[in-house]
Formats: sequence, structure tokens, C-alpha cells
Amino acid sequence: MRILFAASEALPYAKTGGLGDVLEGLPRALSAMGHDVAVVLPLYRGIGTRSVVLSSLTIPIGPRMHFPAIREGDPLRGVRYFFVDAGEFFDRNGLYGEFGGEFGDNPERFTLFSRAVIEIAKQVWQPDVMHCHDWQTALVPVLLRGVYGFDPSFARIPVVFTVHNMAYQGRYGQDVMWRIGLPGHLFHVNALEFWGDVDFLKGGLLFADYLTAVSRKYAEEIQTPEFGFGLDAVTRARSSRLVGILNGADYSTWNPENDRWIAAHYSAAGTTNKAICKQDLLRELRMPAENSERMVVGIVSRFVEQKGFDMIAHVAREFLDEDVAIVALGSGDHRYEAFFRMLADARPDRVGVRIGFDNVLAHKIQAGADLFLMPSRYEPCGLSQMYSMRYGTIPLVRATGGLDDTVEPFEPAAGRGTGFKFWDATGPALLDTLRWALTCYRNRPAWAKLMQNAMAQNFSWEVAAAKYLDVYERARAVRAG
Ligand code: ADP
Ligand code: GLC
Repeated sequence: MRILFAASEALPYAKTGGLGDVLEGLPRALSAMGHDVAVVLPLYRGIGTRSVVLSSLTIPIGPRMHFPAIREGDPLRGVRYFFVDAGEFFDRNGLYGEFGGEFGDNPERFTLFSRAVIEIAKQVWQPDVMHCHDWQTALVPVLLRGVYGFDPSFARIPVVFTVHNMAYQGRYGQDVMWRIGLPGHLFHVNALEFWGDVDFLKGGLLFADYLTAVSRKYAEEIQTPEFGFGLDAVTRARSSRLVGILNGADYSTWNPENDRWIAAHYSAAGTTNKAICKQDLLRELRMPAENSERMVVGIVSRFVEQKGFDMIAHVAREFLDEDVAIVALGSGDHRYEAFFRMLADARPDRVGVRIGFDNVLAHKIQAGADLFLMPSRYEPCGLSQMYSMRYGTIPLVRATGGLDDTVEPFEPAAGRGTGFKFWDATGPALLDTLRWALTCYRNRPAWAKLMQNAMAQNFSWEVAAAKYLDVYERARAVRAG
């Protein structure tokens, strides 16, 4: 099958969070299974010059004409890469914004991108199925069915749309309809209109042939008011075409047996070298070496409300009264950056913090910490907890979305389970679970068993890719009528 992916992030070119990992792992897995796969990305700053396959498209965005070129990069593991070269929109610092704010012209940027994706599908690389991700590409199905509907070349090409996060909708005032130049009939309650605004995500949910969410649990959750961010009625209406597919983990990059960024390699058969990784991590963050005797709690995250850091803030003092050290890496909302900085200033002996995006340190934390903390309020899938299990770094998570689907609570007596879970989204519930984790940590044989269980987990992309293929087939059947 020929599968064309469109997204705003994909490794190795662009990443701010898990979306970038998924758009590497899934295309790779499909290509390894013998399918023809291509990925379309914006040509962001730093991606470099690539050979031109179309020198100029003519794309109207509201009152202005734009003339992006389409470029192609070298294939990677059989996957082809096309880039939409519109310097006025993408040659900037940051993918979505800078200095903590969003770019004001994001609706224009991703409308242009979506239109260019459709032109690629028409003129450069005709797919059997198009697979779009999140609000930035949600206009692809809307445009295909609502504007290009007359074009027979697209009638049989299905669009599958994956929701990675319902909280990011691309929601703007009504004037955006005019700014992006979409016909007025799409400003309708059964299309893009949402409480008087324009909502890109809503359009994707309504116009795609099939929808997927990134875990089984999240596919259920987004149909409820609590997790639907206002669009639960829309996902409920489309529930017969909505499938939950858990992301995979890419063990060619996230594996302590051959991770190129960590101080020493180890595996389930021999974990002693993990202690070297722990010392290296403490050195890297200039923390006292004596912390290697303590349970080191690792955090690698976008610092946003979703991730539940307010729960940690609520019980920070009691947390650090326990015999633990904290290493945290992340960036995002200034208030969470300030919170972690404050924690490190108050307890430099126990807390190491780095604000920023640092892939190498992310790997060192996965390898060097004992516990990986993800107290998310909601989590569509979550990749970090899957990675941490492979490193024998035990996840402590709130039971939501993909965290609930992937972590099984530890039962020492039975020797079962892969981590720790709490249910109430409160600081005290988090603290109780941390204390329980510490009790288990002090019981060396129990902890060793827990590490073995976690390291034996296999969240493979092959399993997920097979499920996506099934959805692609079903979507094709829908289009074939
Ligand atoms: P989300 O997509 O919501 O951010 P995931 O757990 O799915 O959450 O994916 C997060 C990914 O981004 C992981 O690969 C993680 O290592 C990476 N990541 C998050 N923050 C940082 C950071 N500050 N530096 C390096 N990598 C990060
Ligand atoms: C989103 C979600 C995260 C998920 C990732 C990849 O960023 O927040 O839970 O793992 O997408 O699907």
C-alpha cells in the first residue's frame, strides 16, 4: 500500500514531543513491512536545502498568493520525505511559536501546509491512503471533501486522522475563515464552526474517513466531557469510525543495550551498569554523588498543565522530606519552569534541573534514574513511560489514557506488575504512591523483580502498524463505497 503521512513533526527532522517520535516509528515500521511510505513536513529552519521536485505551487491564502516549492530529502530506511518550502512561514525559530507564545499566523501557516500536502498527493506522489495527525493537518480532509470534492482523483483516496491530543484544537475567531480563504459554507456547525469560532480539529474529526486515538483508553476518554475539551459530542457521533491504537516504542534508539548517549550499557540479563549511568547523571547535573544511594526520581517532559506538575508542587516539601533525589528536564510554561528552578535553588543537594530541550540528557535520565514520574492529568498515550520500562526505570503514573493502558501496578507478593499508579489527581495521592514506591525500593529482591518485569515489556511498532493497516483497509472500503 502507498501511505502518505502529513504532520507538523517527524524525527529526525522536527520534534517538540511524542508526535515527532510517532512520525518516525510508524512510517519506519510500515516501510519495513514492505509498504511504500512518504512523510510530508514543513521545511523548518535548520532542515537544510533539499532537491526541488516542484519549483512553485500557487496557493491562495485569503487575500495573498503564496508560491511554495516542494523539496525532497534522502530516503531514510525506505521512507521518503517531502518538504513544503515556504520561507515566509517556516523559516523561523520554533515550530509553533517562540518566547512562550504562539505565532499569530499559525492558521495561515498550517492551511498552506495542508493545501500543499494535497497538491503533493495529486502531482508528486499519489497515495492509496493519506494519514494526517493533529489539528495542524486537520484541514486536509476538510479541503479534500469540502473544496476539492469535484476532483475525481481524490474520491477513492481515504483520509485517516489521528488524534494525539484533544486539547490542541487550532481554535480561532471567525475572521480566520476569511484570513485562510475557506468558503463560507464550511463555517457551519457540521464543519469548522464551533461556538462561533473556527476549530481545525473539529473539521478533521468530522471529515476524515476513519479516526484513531493513540491508546485504547484515550479513544474512550475523548468521548466524555472530562477529556473531550468540548468536542466529545463530535467524537461520540463518530464512534463507529474511531479506533484506539497504542503507540509503539522505537527500541533502536531507546534501548540500554546500545543507547549511544549513556555512560554504560546494560540489559535485563545484567543491570549492574545502571549504577554507572546513575553516577554519570548526577555528575551531569552537578548533584552530590551521595545521591546514588537514594532513589532518584526522573522527569522528562513538556512543562504544561496536562502533565500534572501542580500535584508535585502541592506536596513538594513532603516529597523532599523523603529519602529521594529529583532530576527534571523540561521546558514550557514559565510557572512550571520557575517552580522547578525554585526547587533546585532550595535543595541543590537533592534536586537537579535543566530547563530546555536536550535529547542526550533525556536518554541519560531514562538510564540513570530509578523511578520515572508522570503524574499526568490526562495522557493520550505517553511514550516516556514505555521507554523508561525498557531502561528498568520504574514508571510512577496517574491512571489515565495510555499511562493506564501501559503500566500495571506492582504486587510484590505475586511478583507481578511493572510500575506504580495512582488514581485521584491530587498531591496527597501522588505522595502516598511515592512512599509506597520507596518501600518497594528498599526491598532489593522485590525491586529487582519489578525491574525485570518492566524491562520485559515490548511495545513494538510492528503491532501498532498492523492495526493501522487494518484501519487503512477499512477506510479504503468506505471510499470504495
Ligand atoms: P508528549 O508528546 O505529550 O510530550 P510523550 O511521552 O508522548 O509526551 O513524548 C514525549 C517525548 O518528548 C519523549 O520522547 C521525551 O523524551 C521527549 N521530551 C519531552 N521533553 C523533552 C525535553 N525537554 N528534552 C528532550 N526530550 C524531551
Ligand atoms: C501527544 C500526547 C502524548 C502522546 C503523543 C504521541 O503529544 O500528549 O500522550 O504520546 O502525542 O502520540
